[in-house]
Amino acid sequence: MTQPLWDKPGTRIDARIMQFLAGDDVLLDREFFLHDITASKAHVEGLANIGVVSAAEATALKRELDTLAADFASGEFVLDERFEDGHSAIEARLTERLGDAGRRVHTGRSRNDQVLVATRLWLKDKLGALESHCRAIANVCLERAAQPALPMPGYTHLQRAVVSSTAMWFAGFAEGFIDNAWRARQTLALIDANPLGTAAGYGVNLKLDREHTTKALGFARMQVSPIYAQLSRGKFEMAVLEAIAGALLDLRRMAWDLSLFTTAEFNFVQLPAEYTTGSSIMPNKRNPDVIELLRASYASVAAARTEIEQLLSLPSGYQRDLQFSKGSIFHGVRRGLGALELVPDLLVRLQWNGPTMRAAIEPAMYATDVAIEQAAAGVPFREAYRAAAQAAASAGQGRTPEDSLAIRVSPGAGDDLRLDELRARLALLEC
Ligand code: ARG
Repeated sequence: MTQPLWDKPGTRIDARIMQFLAGDDVLLDREFFLHDITASKAHVEGLANIGVVSAAEATALKRELDTLAADFASGEFVLDERFEDGHSAIEARLTERLGDAGRRVHTGRSRNDQVLVATRLWLKDKLGALESHCRAIANVCLERAAQPALPMPGYTHLQRAVVSSTAMWFAGFAEGFIDNAWRARQTLALIDANPLGTAAGYGVNLKLDREHTTKALGFARMQVSPIYAQLSRGKFEMAVLEAIAGALLDLRRMAWDLSLFTTAEFNFVQLPAEYTTGSSIMPNKRNPDVIELLRASYASVAAARTEIEQLLSLPSGYQRDLQFSKGSIFHGVRRGLGALELVPDLLVRLQWNGPTMRAAIEPAMYATDVAIEQAAAGVPFREAYRAAAQAAASAGQGRTPEDSLAIRVSPGAGDDLRLDELRARLALLEC
C-alpha cells in the first residue's frame, strides 16, 4: 500500500492492523469514486475562488481529475489495495502528476466530509433511479388497469371474499408505486444538502466558498452545521434505504400474489418464460425463481438498514464505525433497485387466465353485495347481513362477476377505479 495520508514521524504501521482498518474499504470506494472526483473538482474551484490555489493550478488539477475519471472508467486506472482508500488515491495521483498543486488539494477538507459528499451524490443518483423505477411500474400498472377487467376472486385471510378484478389488482399497485415514487422524491429533498466544506466536522480557519461548491455540485442547499453534517451520515443512508424498502414491501406482496397465482392450484396467471427457470433434477418443472428473488430482495434492504441503525449508536462527531455503513448501502441499494428494475417488463407481459379466475368465483362471494343491496333498500344492515349469511350459498343466483363489479360504485372500486385521478398524481411527478 502507498504511504497513508496520515503518515508522519512517530507513526507505526502494522500490516495486519492496516488490513483490519482498511479491509475491503478501498474496493467499496470504487462505487462512488467518480462522485469523489466530481466533488474534488468543485473543491478545487472553491479553493481557487479564495486564492488557496492559483487559477493555473486549479485548471491543471481539474484536468488531471478529469483524466483520472476517464482512466478509471476505461479500466486504465485501477482503484485497489495499493491505496488506503479512494480519497488517498485521488491525492496520490494528483501529487504524482502535479507535485505541489496536488499536495494542496486537501487544504480545508477532511476525508470525513469527502466521504460524506461522495456518498451523498451517490445516494441522490440512486433516489433518482428509485423514482424512475417506481414511476415505470406505476405506469404499466395504470395501463393494464385500463384494459378490460377480468373478474377474479378477492381474498381476505387467503379465503375467497368478494369479486375483484385484474383492473382492481393493477390499480392497487399503481397507487402504491405512485406513493413510492413520491417518497423517493421527498427523500431526495431531505438529503439534498451539501456537506463538503465541513472538514473533519468542526469547520476550518478559511473562508471556504461553500456556496460555490453547493451550486457546482447541484445541491439544493448547504448543510450548514459541520456537526450536523456528521450526524447526518448514516441517518440519510437509512432514509434512502427506507424509501427503497417501502417500494420493496409492495413488491414483496405483489410477488407473493404472483407466486401463488402461478401454482397449478390457482392457475390464474402465466409468467413470461424468462421469469421462470427449470429444475436441475425434475424435468417437469418451471419454477418462478425470479418472482421469489423479487420477494426476497426486501430482506437485503431491511438488513442493510438494520446494520446502519446498529452502527449509529455513537456520540456526535466522526467515528470510524461509520465506514461499515458503506458496504451495507451498496449491497442493499443494488439489491433493491435491481429488483425494481425488472418489474415493468414482467407486468407488461403477465398473462391472466380469465376462465380459471372466473371459475374460482363462488356464489357466496356475492353475499356482501346482497346484504348491502338490502341495507340500501332500508333493511338495517345487521339484519340484512344475517339474512345474507343464511342464504350465502344461493347469493349468486342470477348474478355474474361482471354484475358485481359493475355495481361496485364506491370511489376506487370496480366500477369507479378513478384511474384519471391516479394518472394526474403520477403526472405531477413530471414537473
Ligand atoms: N473510509 C473512511 C470512512 O468511510 C473515510 C474517512 C476516514 N476518516 C478518518 N478520520 N479516518 O469513514
